[in-house]
Amino acid sequence: MDISYVLVTGATGFIGAQIVDKLLARGLKVRGATRSPSKAQSMFSARPNYTSKLDFVIIRDFEQTGVFDDAVQGIDAVIHVASPLTYDTTDNENELIIPALNGVRSILTAASKASVKRIVITSSFAAVLDLSRKSPPFFTYTSADWNPLTYSEAIAPCTSAVVAYRGSKKFAELEAWNYLQTHKPQFDLVTICPPMTFGPIVHPVSRVEDLNESNVQLWKIAAGEKPLPVTRVPFWIDVRDLAEAHVEALVRPEVGNKRFTPASPEHFSYEMAAKVMLEEFDWARGRVSEEEQEVDVSYGLDGLTVTKELGVKYRSFRETVVDLVSQAREMEKNSR
Ligand SMILES: NC(=O)c1ccc[n+]([C@@H]2O[C@H](COP(=O)([O-])OP(=O)(O)OC[C@H]3O[C@@H](n4cnc5c(N)ncnc54)[C@H](OP(=O)(O)O)[C@@H]3O)[C@@H](O)[C@H]2O)c1
Repeated sequence: MDISYVLVTGATGFIGAQIVDKLLARGLKVRGATRSPSKAQSMFSARPNYTSKLDFVIIRDFEQTGVFDDAVQGIDAVIHVASPLTYDTTDNENELIIPALNGVRSILTAASKASVKRIVITSSFAAVLDLSRKSPPFFTYTSADWNPLTYSEAIAPCTSAVVAYRGSKKFAELEAWNYLQTHKPQFDLVTICPPMTFGPIVHPVSRVEDLNESNVQLWKIAAGEKPLPVTRVPFWIDVRDLAEAHVEALVRPEVGNKRFTPASPEHFSYEMAAKVMLEEFDWARGRVSEEEQEVDVSYGLDGLTVTKELGVKYRSFRETVVDLVSQAREMEKNSR
């Protein structure tokens, strides 16, 4: 695929920044989109070797129609990562679901008026998971599966932010697939549905308290919080492998209009994370919980198709935990 200049939304976030670095390392030009001039400046200053290959656009409100019209000019492809990921909400529909939907609408509409050839969207395993499916017998989720949650269930006042977030990812991804059917734009689409994503950070964060939602769970364990977080699903991926999956999904012509579920074949629990910390770090002994937590191996998620079609090989859980926790421990020491 002939792509040289890529717009990345959510470029200053945990996953987005890793994608930016993978694109730059492949020699591609990158335009990052962010709401925050200071985060843009930090990302830019931290990459002195890429000053001619990296620029940022400030989009204060991603939800408004037309805000991406200028940002997509000259762009060959878009990786749309930005979406609200927080469980600290008071109004799930307005804080999680509508922003996710409007963000997709806004970027797709702008792209259809420019010369964008492909859009890759970071969806989530949350858009795949069906809580009514129970094992035994053993079953494996694939990219053909969709979360059956309805819009009214997702916005109901009694619905938790976790479930509403799952709705936000499902409805935003569906919006993109429906847009293709209805508007038949010149670009094709690839969606990526990762499970829990952990690993080292390359985005601007200086305090462990400000780590993104998924990594913060690992840090809470390292910080000695008890009990261990609940392991809702046993699937995970390293952020560096996920960034590679996005970039491969962007550059391989043959994967257009496909949906992928990148995931490590290793199932995890937070007890496994605690054990890695206890084995690898002297400081963790006496601090990190030794609570038991079963690893759920009663069902699976197909990560193999991504290895076959996108060439991604997965890191081990140990490597991911060690790399993030070592980095976060240094941040903790430096912020004292
Ligand atoms: N982390 C995981 O475990 C995981 C797993 C599966 C899928 N995902 C998906 O991956 C994507 C990125 O997640 P992440 O973990 O990298 O989160 P993150 O670190 O919080 O980054 C998300 C980025 O999106 C932007 N953003 C957030 N809310 C926004 C809004 N209302 N309007 C516009 N921009 C907004 C923010 O950029 P600015 O503040 O710079 O504007 C932020 O840097 C999300 O789509 C998430 O659903 C994450």
